[in-house]
Amino acid sequence: MTPTSGSSLDSARSVPYYLPVGDEVDLFFGAYADRTPVLLKGPTGTGKTRFLEYMAWKLRDADSGSPLPLTTVSCQEDLTAGDLLGRFLLEGDGTRWVDGPLTAAVRHGGICYLDEVVEARKDVMVVVHSLTDHRRFLPLAKLDQTLEAHPSFLLVISYNPGYQTSLKDLKHSTRQRFVAIEFGYADEATEAEILTHEGGASAALADSLAAMAGRLRRLNEEHLIEGPSTRLLVYAAQLIGRGVSARRACEVSIAAVVTDDPIARLAVDELISAFFPPGSGENDS
Ligand SMILES: Nc1ncnc2c1ncn2[C@@H]1O[C@H](COP(=O)(O)OP(=O)(O)O)[C@@H](O)[C@H]1O
Ligand SMILES: [Mg+2]
Repeated sequence: MTPTSGSSLDSARSVPYYLPVGDEVDLFFGAYADRTPVLLKGPTGTGKTRFLEYMAWKLRDADSGSPLPLTTVSCQEDLTAGDLLGRFLLEGDGTRWVDGPLTAAVRHGGICYLDEVVEARKDVMVVVHSLTDHRRFLPLAKLDQTLEAHPSFLLVISYNPGYQTSLKDLKHSTRQRFVAIEFGYADEATEAEILTHEGGASAALADSLAAMAGRLRRLNEEHLIEGPSTRLLVYAAQLIGRGVSARRACEVSIAAVVTDDPIARLAVDELISAFFPPGSGENDS
């Protein structure tokens, strides 16, 4: 099975919560107007998926009110072009063609999001290239067909430069087919607002978590592969909302997640203690 998720937004008429961090919303509208393929670049948990859900909703059909369909494929090393394109299934005496998630999106329209595309097998890039060609086509060799993209189709890929070794870098021949919208950590005030909304944090707790995250991210270079994402801060806020002490919540949702190295862990724990001293924080007695 290809790990895909269709949008569950068709039934949900309310706008997904997304707080813009920069000019990404305008940039995406601009790119979509010309159907220019988009590369979302940046660390995990910085809002890329939520942003696309929001944009799909913003680009909803004026008549029906339905959001643009959004198909997400989480790419991993076993994912082949065949998984994206589709296959013949045995049925009765014969076979029946079943579209893969990419083919379905190309045929019926909407956004197709290939998350962490460099993780996929190399043959996936061939498919990506044909869709970023100005003719926007998809060769379906097994059907002996070339499918032209639906007018509403847009290809979006994501890439986290932090994870990649030179072996799994996004090739220039591929990246030069996209506009790249960069996702980073939100500034402290914006991140605190996200934590209030998503994690139910009080203003004071949200401010502390956001300030602590800023400090942890600055440890990044020296100690951590990647600093804590907004997603992890949301988890911490939610646990605190469930009655877990702030220190313990930060330990399980941040410290133990961002590092396995004992020395780095000491540095992280020290920082957490500076923001949430024992006996002084939320839910601490
Ligand atoms: N700008 C933002 N606006 C609203 N929520 C955000 C934002 N950035 C991050 N989040 C929160 O962080 C979580 C993780 O974001 P997600 O979109 O899944 O990240 P990514 O796809 O980059 O890994 C979201 O579920 C949401 O709660
Ligand atoms: Mg994501």
